[in-house]
Amino acid sequence: MIDFIGILDTRADTLARLVDSASRIKQDRGLHRSALTGMRIGLFFEKPSTRTRVSSEIASVEMGAYPVVLGQHEVGLGTREAVRDVARVLDRYLDLLALRVFNHSVLVEIARYAEAPVVNLLSDVEHPCQAVADLQTIAEHRPLDEVVVAYVGDGNNVCHSLMAGVTLLGGDMRVVCPPGFEPSARFVESGGDGLTVSSDPRAVEGADVVYTDVWASMGQESEARARAEAFAAYRVDGAMFGLARPDAIFLHCLPAHRGDEVTDEVIEHPGSRVFDQAENRLHAMKAILLELLG
Ligand code: CP
Ligand code: NVA
Repeated sequence: MIDFIGILDTRADTLARLVDSASRIKQDRGLHRSALTGMRIGLFFEKPSTRTRVSSEIASVEMGAYPVVLGQHEVGLGTREAVRDVARVLDRYLDLLALRVFNHSVLVEIARYAEAPVVNLLSDVEHPCQAVADLQTIAEHRPLDEVVVAYVGDGNNVCHSLMAGVTLLGGDMRVVCPPGFEPSARFVESGGDGLTVSSDPRAVEGADVVYTDVWASMGQESEARARAEAFAAYRVDGAMFGLARPDAIFLHCLPAHRGDEVTDEVIEHPGSRVFDQAENRLHAMKAILLELLG
């Protein structure tokens, strides 16, 4: 693996190895303590972050690397300086460039101009680091080639990476979205037989995992009101979660908008694994950095 920009571009054996490695790292937080000694890792954020920022920075430090965290207000990616120039400059200082950007095409451009590996820390198209942690969390509950995952909500970046990952590793994925908010055709086509997309929340019936994400992603704040109307029947509440298997788990990448896409009852339910999932971001990020730099 040269870059980690999307699950859609990742091979099944690589993804399985990342998930296994993350699970092993979780058993011993000190594992690989000095695996990245002397490495310099750039972490750039064009939009806010808690989990991704902290998990990447701590993953770097715990393996001996030096993280440099940069915000858009200081770099001016594409405004103060052309994207390709920023890529070539950072490439002279750093061993790996990890970026959270609005437009996925910016990541593709950076990967083209930087020799260092490029990691997608969330774009409008994918959130692949999240998906590795999601798969790790799902694997803690059910074997990935037997699992039925129901994603309810917006066919967004998180949904794309999750559906690509679940189907790549042999699981069944049911995506439930209001009409007009389905995932992109590219992701639907790649899902093959393991994927169904519908607008009927009853597709949650019998699922092992129920997953949702915010109705309006970062950058879509002006659409929040219209989206709240469109998504009203897609809130994961006790009744919807009750359609899943009695031992089903609930996942959410977080941050959650309690009362919108998920109720307090579900996020606080004994089946909710959202904080294990958030913890797994750290182990998953170590696995990703090791795969690219180790
Ligand atoms: N799940 C996730 O990526 O969270 P942050 O936006 O806080 O990084
Ligand atoms: N879909 C959300 C995920 C946040 C982690 C967003 O892009 O804002």
